[in-house]
Amino acid sequence: MRTHYCTEVTEKNIGEEVTVAGWVNSRRDHGGIIFIDLRDKGGLVQLVADPAILPISETVRDEFVLVAKGSVRARGEGLENPNLVTGKIEIVLSELTIENKSKPMPFDLNDDKVNDEIKLRNRFLELRSKKSFEIFQLRSKAAIQVRNTLDELGFLDVETPILTKSTPEGARDYLVPSRVHGGEFYALPQSPQLFKQLLMVSGFDKYFQIAKCFRDEDLRADRQPEFTQIDVEMSFCDQEDVIKVAEKVITDVFTKCGKPVPSEFPRMRYWDAMETYGSDKPDIRFDMPLVEVIDIFANSTNEIFADIAKDKKNNRIKALKCPNGDNLFSKRQMKGFEDYVRKFGAKGLGYFQMKEDGLKGPLTKFFSEADLEEIVKTTELEVGDVVFFGAGDKKTVWDYMGRFRLYLAEQMDIIPEDAYEFLWVVDFPMFEVEDGKMKALHHPFTMPKSLEDTSDLESIESIAYDIVLNGMELGGGSIRIHKEEIQSKVFELMGISEEEQREKFGFLLDALQYGAPSHGGFAMGLDRLIMLLAGTDSIRDVIAFPKTQKAQCLLTGAPSPVDAEQLKDLSLRIRKTEQQS
Ligand code: AMO
Repeated sequence: MRTHYCTEVTEKNIGEEVTVAGWVNSRRDHGGIIFIDLRDKGGLVQLVADPAILPISETVRDEFVLVAKGSVRARGEGLENPNLVTGKIEIVLSELTIENKSKPMPFDLNDDKVNDEIKLRNRFLELRSKKSFEIFQLRSKAAIQVRNTLDELGFLDVETPILTKSTPEGARDYLVPSRVHGGEFYALPQSPQLFKQLLMVSGFDKYFQIAKCFRDEDLRADRQPEFTQIDVEMSFCDQEDVIKVAEKVITDVFTKCGKPVPSEFPRMRYWDAMETYGSDKPDIRFDMPLVEVIDIFANSTNEIFADIAKDKKNNRIKALKCPNGDNLFSKRQMKGFEDYVRKFGAKGLGYFQMKEDGLKGPLTKFFSEADLEEIVKTTELEVGDVVFFGAGDKKTVWDYMGRFRLYLAEQMDIIPEDAYEFLWVVDFPMFEVEDGKMKALHHPFTMPKSLEDTSDLESIESIAYDIVLNGMELGGGSIRIHKEEIQSKVFELMGISEEEQREKFGFLLDALQYGAPSHGGFAMGLDRLIMLLAGTDSIRDVIAFPKTQKAQCLLTGAPSPVDAEQLKDLSLRIRKTEQQS
């Protein structure tokens, strides 16, 4: 039907007959001559129609779908548009078909301020925008590159089930009721974790999948209930082998997408990341480390600090230097910083200002001259700097000081936007206590470094690693447990009874008894990768049909009620909550 895409028609085609097809981007009536900007996936071309010859051109409106034939001519002197590839020409129409009409658009495609609800309700229209199309071109290119790289490295693309049994990745499951087995449920996979391990027991040696995963968890700017992982597993490997594969995948994708990055990334131990950045996913695009000052504060005459400093195992006092802070921020803003950290459990936020004649601030009276000098030295203060302090139990201090570091850097506008700073965080602890329960920090299939001494579970390290990009967790993985007795022991340490182990993971424990090779792997969030490559701050931008913060699809109206017959087939009855009735 068409001879050219819109943007393929340039001055090289002057004098030729061409046929183009697409949507009306805009239409202008210049006293008897009609100009139409026609748009397809590549961009715009200008059509010119004389209504005396083509009366149908008068009925054309925005977003109508046209197939247009005409001859290419140079635009008149002074009428060229240097912003368009096709800006030097126009197509004088001889034939025009309106393939379909369009109702007026519910929003302007080029207006960034339109509210999200309208855009999501009409997502197929939002996807007409140039920005969206470019993101999906990038996504397609990246996914194809992932496949090519892993294929070259000898990985086999294997699909694993969507209707399956729950695997614990730390979120709630999406459940699917079984019709045939009334009262029983499948779970949608939170990841293909156990299947990929089983494929290693099958001898497949190297597996990958661009896999859909489902997690019912609180949604954020970088989380969707349904997302995609680049999932990899390999046999007879150590941490270095897996890291090499992940680095190759990442560097190939970035190179292919025109953003070359180094072929190896720096590493940091988990505990160093927590102590220095208050986070297991530090943003190292800027410096501003947290500095431990608990020893200096131990001498202070302030009871609260001195008390906190007594328990160096469980408490921390962290200093955060804000270069030139004294000049950058007003008293009111400083007060705002305290309000900010209070939201994350801080009891307050102490600070000193570095003046010409030394440290100033309400806290100085609690310190000796020598200790004040020590603070200046340890935190490397210069005149004009401000240094903030967070004190309390270590988890709370890491959390709010880590967040505050990011918040402050944003306020100071010092985070380079076009930088890509990767970091491997390694040597994760095997276990952590959450709500009084012992749980695996990665997942319970991760190989602990040693289980010889189990007196302090939280001090046991695992062979697990995360890849962080610009402060976002891009992916993670580990070397797995390949021996049944170690796997059972880990379950036992987590307080999972033998009965529950068999019921939930019997198939894994059985498989590990049939010649399971040593193995390991990783998974990376494809959506997050594309977000960072595309420079967008919402995961919704990179998913064709995303869900809202409340896990709804506004376009299709999912989730939605089903009819009584379907419920009966599934042996289900809806219990009305107060809100519904
Ligand atoms: P993990 O749970 O760390 O590991 O997930 C791996 C990566 O998947 C992405 N991700 C998400 N992306 C968008 N929305 C979500 N709700 C979401 N949840 C996770 C993140 C994350 O780093 N089976 C293990 C991997 C392994 O051990 O091999 C796993 O799933 O980018």
